[in-house]
Amino acid sequence: MEFGKLCSWEKQGNRVVFQFEKRTGRVEILTPEIFNVFSGVVSEEHRSKAIEGDKSVAVDFTAAEADGAVEISTNAVTARIYDDFKVDFYKADGTVLCRDYRGSRKICAGLSDELKALKEAEGHNVEEQRTEAVEVVKQLEGDEAFYGLGDKTGFMDKRGYEYVMWNTDDPAPQMDNFKSLYKSIPFFITLHKNAVFGLFYDNTYRSCFDMGKESEEYYWYGAADGNLDYYLIAGESMPEVLGNYTYLTGTVPVPQKWTLGYHQCRWSYKTEAEVRQLAADFRRYEIPCDAIYFDIDYMDGYRVFTWNKDNFTDPDQLITDLKEQGFQAVTIIDPGVKKDEDYYVYREGIEHDYFAKDVNGDVYINAVWPGDSAFPDFGRQEVRDWWGEKHQFLLDKGIMGVWNDMNEPASFNGPLPDDVVFTEEDEITNHKWMHNVYGHNMSKATYQGLRRLSDKRPFVITRACYSGTQKYATVWTGDNNSLWTHLRMAIPQLCNLGMSGYPFAGTDIGGFGSDTTGELLVRWYQVGCFSTLFRNHSAMGTRRQEPWLFGKEKLDIIRKYVELRYELIPYFYDLFHEHLSTGLPVMRPLVLEYEKDINTHNMNDEFMIGSQLLAAPVVEQGATKRMVYLPAGEWVDYWTKEHIAGGQYIIRDAPLDTCPIYVKAGTILPKYPVEAYIGTKEQKKLILEVYAGDGEYEHYQDDGLDFAYEQGAYNLYRFSHTGNGELEEKLLHEGYPKYEEIDIKYIP
Ligand code: GLC
Repeated sequence: MEFGKLCSWEKQGNRVVFQFEKRTGRVEILTPEIFNVFSGVVSEEHRSKAIEGDKSVAVDFTAAEADGAVEISTNAVTARIYDDFKVDFYKADGTVLCRDYRGSRKICAGLSDELKALKEAEGHNVEEQRTEAVEVVKQLEGDEAFYGLGDKTGFMDKRGYEYVMWNTDDPAPQMDNFKSLYKSIPFFITLHKNAVFGLFYDNTYRSCFDMGKESEEYYWYGAADGNLDYYLIAGESMPEVLGNYTYLTGTVPVPQKWTLGYHQCRWSYKTEAEVRQLAADFRRYEIPCDAIYFDIDYMDGYRVFTWNKDNFTDPDQLITDLKEQGFQAVTIIDPGVKKDEDYYVYREGIEHDYFAKDVNGDVYINAVWPGDSAFPDFGRQEVRDWWGEKHQFLLDKGIMGVWNDMNEPASFNGPLPDDVVFTEEDEITNHKWMHNVYGHNMSKATYQGLRRLSDKRPFVITRACYSGTQKYATVWTGDNNSLWTHLRMAIPQLCNLGMSGYPFAGTDIGGFGSDTTGELLVRWYQVGCFSTLFRNHSAMGTRRQEPWLFGKEKLDIIRKYVELRYELIPYFYDLFHEHLSTGLPVMRPLVLEYEKDINTHNMNDEFMIGSQLLAAPVVEQGATKRMVYLPAGEWVDYWTKEHIAGGQYIIRDAPLDTCPIYVKAGTILPKYPVEAYIGTKEQKKLILEVYAGDGEYEHYQDDGLDFAYEQGAYNLYRFSHTGNGELEEKLLHEGYPKYEEIDIKYIP
């Protein structure tokens, strides 16, 4: 985009509007720490799917000309705007956050080779597109590390790699060189010597993020279309930046408590008998479990909102019986609606004109699991409402969660052409604009439908999403494989999802494709028991991987870690409660807690759960020892209770039954007694493990089920201790029946 010389500027409310020779641009001050840089290409106002509602607050700021620039300052950030809409950002003390790059690019227009090839493959005239490409090039100040960008493969620090935001279902085993996956989260946090900040490029078109691959001098972002619309998000620390990003795009509502238990899935448990046997086996082998999934085969010919009555003669009774045994049922729902005149969902969609069309005005058809299918046009409120209402069918059966898949949208007869007609609320638009938010809009439809039809907190899982979808759905990382490299990748992937506003996430434990081994499965449980979505899932045709299929030794170890998760459920639940006000994830890369410690900056095989627990799982085949880095402070080995000084690497024995875990000295760790399931019952007893040292902890308690907490039906406790002295308890809010028993265990 070319702007030319700055001709004039003026303050308009919380905006400063700039007239350049060739275009207008503006800087909007939303909060002292959040600045938006905008120039309209497809619309004069934001067209955000991620940000809902007006997030601007009254901010005191100054705007004045200084040294050939217009300088806009709040008490936290200064932006300097120059000719050609070059924008530089500084902290209040003058430290550079980021500056636009002034040199010439090696590739001088907005598309990388990757993006060019993709566009050419789709039949676009690349040269023609280049002039309109929206691109922002930022100077590399030297030591930047980049975190976030959603579910991308590879490592924690994204420096030196290039990614494409285009929600993609690629069945090949995911490798570090994958450019895109299922999710598009165009947000990253930059950490450099003296500063940290986030950049959120709110543009849903196919875009490219080059994090310093093309050059050691700059990193850049470019989209083929859409507005120049990005946010500089400042803060004193990474947690503050993340808090500001989730202030903009939303936080995850506290989930139903049972969703934090263990979930079992397979493509597919195909018959009623199989599901009943599975449930019985969980209780027989005494592996706690809260959820059983129904993958696509529960449906009649993969028709969504139907049930296969041949294999499930009485689904209502089955779900009722499962519930009695403490299992909640979750069903998959894909977006593709089978083209079948005799099928009620297809007929309704046609009758009300709810499906996307081709350029000739005919309903657009592509193939997914049911064969030829139509795609609901979820960008329209009335389509979302209709889809939401359809869930009554599942709720009537007692279904407690909905798993949205294939919503990139995936298609088997080639990708959807760019010109498929979709709607963005009232505006007719196309696939190019709507692709990356298709999963977002579908999840929103599902969430809002469940919210209207039931008093429970909706539990929705989605594969595809955009920034902001966290308000509506939990995510999993899609079709991984039973490979050690994929177990290793799970840690940076989940940690970066957390750094992208997605604290509720999981990987398919054991691996989806390929055959697992007992050792890999055990090690995966040792990571998975700390991921918020704790689900074992595998593909049709692969070796089965239920916990009891690999001999007694492995079964006992898996039970140990599933039980550990069940003990820690109040801790996980508290972390979700904390997330609401802070935006912090549950599973955290060490760098989020210890950003000043360079050893943490690219730590791919350790992570924190909240700020009290550190896990250093074994992710190498055959390894029985590992190096563990403990950041500064005093730590307690969770298993031996030995005290260890931090600020050093140690070697820890880690035979198959051991996942090294460390607890910060002074921690007050809440636990529940292990039970076969959490379900919908009330927890009457709380256990507090009090580790020697000083500590303070807030614990949240409610019914774990509905929205009564919004009317005050919850308790908030504050526990504190100094040294190993008595634990003090203070009730900060009382609105729910208190525990019948609090059992305090001092750990010297
Ligand atoms: C997709 C999903 C996978 C699911 C399968 C069948 O591959 O990612 O989880 O089991 O479709 O529905």
